[in-house]
Amino acid sequence: MQLFLDTAEIDEIAGRARAGLVDGVTTNPSLIAKSGADVFDRVAAICAAVSGPVSAEVVATDVEGMLREGRRLREIADNVVIKLPLTGPGLEACRSFADEGVATNVTLCFSLNQAMLAAKAGATFVSPFVGRVEDAGGDGIGLLRDIRAHYDRHGFETRILAASLRNPGHVEAAALVGCDAATLPPKTFDEMIRHPLTDTGLEAFLADWEKTGRGGLA
Ligand code: E4P
Repeated sequence: MQLFLDTAEIDEIAGRARAGLVDGVTTNPSLIAKSGADVFDRVAAICAAVSGPVSAEVVATDVEGMLREGRRLREIADNVVIKLPLTGPGLEACRSFADEGVATNVTLCFSLNQAMLAAKAGATFVSPFVGRVEDAGGDGIGLLRDIRAHYDRHGFETRILAASLRNPGHVEAAALVGCDAATLPPKTFDEMIRHPLTDTGLEAFLADWEKTGRGGLA
């Protein structure tokens, strides 16, 4: 499963990307607004830091506006993926971009019906929002499982990008269900690294080594 960072902050991307951990980045209007940066400048900087897909979202709500904004975003770099909301106009814009060979990420997906329509509209990625489904009392991981089963049964190539993941358990569940990618905030990325037994194990190894008085290896 590919791992994407869900952030618009460059300093949250660079180190993790250098370690080869980041397959792509997703942004949304809330994240860009929070950064205070110009959207085009910020997306360009992210694309320079990461070679994989970088989702940049339109803010227009009509088809023409989405196509105009999407084309402008695509001029930034070849790895820009146009993020479109799962609305009627969003699906229509998705189909136009798909026919032009432009990669899309259809976002704010909360049901199997919506995922079915995103696939029919030719979406490259669909983003089901696991955490927000759970916030509303639903089964977010169950939704991922249902979409996986449906896409496999009918041969849809749209990639499932699990989104709104709030903890490492969500990431593991998305992987086990067979999602193609998952996008997670930097905090969750770091939580994936940590395990209490790694900490205590390392502490014991280093304490034993310290007793030898031999210092570092090089
Ligand atoms: C994904 O594309 C979204 O930007 C993100 O995952 C939303 O997460 P949230 O529900 O925690 O805001």
